Order: sequence, then structure tokens, then C-alpha cells
Amino acid sequence: MRRVFSGIQPSGIPHIGNYLGALKNWIALQNTESALPPIYCIVDLHALTTLSGHPQQLRQLTIESTASLLACGLDPKKSIIFKQSSIHHHTQLAWILSCITSSGVLGRMNQWKSRQKTHNSTLGLFSYPMLMCADILLYRSTDVPVGDDQIQHLELARNTAEIFNRTYETDFMKIAELILPSESGACRVMSLREPLEKMSKSNQSEYSRINLSDMPSVVKSKILRAVTDNESRVSFEPDTRPGVSNLVSIYGSYSDKTIEMVCQEFEGKSTHEFKIALHDLLIEKLYAYQTEYQRIMEDKGYILNVLEQGRKQALEIADENMKQILEMTGLSYN
Ligand code: TYM
Repeated sequence: MRRVFSGIQPSGIPHIGNYLGALKNWIALQNTESALPPIYCIVDLHALTTLSGHPQQLRQLTIESTASLLACGLDPKKSIIFKQSSIHHHTQLAWILSCITSSGVLGRMNQWKSRQKTHNSTLGLFSYPMLMCADILLYRSTDVPVGDDQIQHLELARNTAEIFNRTYETDFMKIAELILPSESGACRVMSLREPLEKMSKSNQSEYSRINLSDMPSVVKSKILRAVTDNESRVSFEPDTRPGVSNLVSIYGSYSDKTIEMVCQEFEGKSTHEFKIALHDLLIEKLYAYQTEYQRIMEDKGYILNVLEQGRKQALEIADENMKQILEMTGLSYN
């Protein structure tokens, strides 16, 4: 049976890159009848790489992230939603996996190389991908829906599963497959200010991203200010026209239209007219999310209950798998 697993850091309200690159697929995948319930994890241990020393903020962001996932359409009756730190097996398995992984491999990870420049280069940041491997392998996951910035990490998880299987002469670890958004190409939503850079929560400029919580007037000024070029037609040419192509891809993905359909729809129209249409579309989509988010945030007890139910369900699977892993590796539970 297939098992979907993915994670998101509770490092702020998700932006449309998180939604189009990952969350949209998460929601679609919870309706696959032939598979086991998908597991979606709020990776608060990963977030500690940037939020150490801010316990109140981390707790609050974890609640807000959970509410965001629910407001986007995750259904706790169909999906297991839980907090990474509530299941200690993640860190235990990360250690076991780190004992069969060379430090050179981690040193070559692109995110490590780029984040080292802007973050404190802690051991946690360096071994971040190991914890991610543990997240995936702990649940013997077969499918991992993510945006394309996570491809290298997923490749590491696949290799690590193979090394584990070879080392312990087993086929216990599954080699998970990458699930990227199809068709419209929103697997990498780019910054609205520097369209050659990925849209990200950590970019200093608020104008580089649209958060799911942005109010209509904010969305309007961000879209109107989005960098395009001095040509006024609407086309998809990411190499030569990255700004407008990014907006086309966002429009396509939000309206479930292919790139071709979007370009046809706006043939003969100016980029300004297109930006207004994109703004109208986003307002409509974000409004649905925002109303739901407000409603959910009024009931903190409900959010905590979702996480607790998710913890119980995830723990059952993690416990069963971890027993076998400990047995294989010569460690033990008691
Ligand atoms: P995080 O929290 O940075 O992002 C969550 C998801 O959003 C996707 N994403 C994007 N997709 C398209 N365009 C963008 N601009 C964009 N920005 C972010 C990410 O690809 C991701 O799918 N390390 C992971 C969390 C994680 C995880 C895991 C994921 C921890 N353990 C196990 C999968 C499996 C992260 O920091 O995602």
C-alpha cells in the first residue's frame, strides 16, 4: 500500500509558493482511496534551527501552521496531522541514519551551502537533512509531495534507505518517490521582486511573496509591483522573461489551467491587464482560506485536539516500525 508523507516548517504563515508547490498536492492526495491515510507533519524540530531561544514564538507558530493547513483543506478525518517533536522516534532514527551517512554528503547539500551564509552554521542546520530522512523513512513512506527545492533532500532519503537496507541486509526501508505539482509548473514559485530567486519565508522583502493571510489591498500592491520587463505581452518564457512567466505559472496553478490555456486567455492583453486578473483570482482564493483560518483560530482547543489525535495515530505506526528498526540495528527498546 502507498503511504504519503510530507512536512512543513512552522516558521510563519505559508505563502503561495508553499501552497502551490506542496499543500495543494497534500490536499489532493488525501482523497486517494487505495492508499493508507497520508501523514503530514509540522516539523517544529526543524524550525528550531532558526527559532532557538524563542519558545513562545515557536509554540504560537506551530498552532498557526496547524490552523493554516486545516484552513487550506486538510481534513483530520482523512489525514494524520501531527507535530514532529511529539514523537521522539524521529530524532532517534535520525541518529541511527547519521551513523551510516558520510559527513561529506551532508556538506554537499545545496540548502546547507546557501543557508550557511545567512544563518548560524550550527550542527543542527548541518544535519537537518538527516532528520528529514528520518521523517520519511520512519513511516516507510512511498510518496513525498514537495516543491522542487526539496529534490536533493529526497534524493538523500532514497540513498539513505538503500544504504540502510544494504548495511542491515533487509528491504525494510522503502525508496520513496518524489511527487511534484504537475502541468502548470508551480513546483518552484519565484520571488515577485527577484524572479530568479525562489519565493521564500525568509526573504527580507515582504513584497517578494504573497502570504495566504494577505489582505486584498496588500495583494494588489504586491502584484502590481511584481517585477516583469519592458514588454507588455503575456507569455511563458522562463529563461528570457522570468517575471511574467512566474505570474503565468501562478495564475495557471491557482485556476487549474495549463500554461498554454493561460497564454491563450491573455493573448492581445497587456501585462497590466493580466496582473489585475491575477489579483482578482488571488483575492477570491485567499478569501476562502482567510475566512476558514479565522474560524479555526477561534477554537484553540480544536487545533490542539487535532494534533493530539494525529500524534496518537502517528505514534502507533512509528512505534511498530521503530521496534523493528531497533531489533535490526542491535539496539533495544528496554
Ligand atoms: P518548508 O517548510 O520550507 O516548505 C514546505 C513545502 O513548501 C514547498 N515550497 C515551495 N514550493 C514551490 N515554490 C516555492 N517557492 C516554495 N517554497 C517552499 C517546499 O518544497 C515544501 O514542500 N525541509 C522541509 C520540511 C520537511 C519535509 C520533511 C518535507 C521536513 N521533513 C519530510 C518532506 C518530507 C521544509 O523546510 O519545507
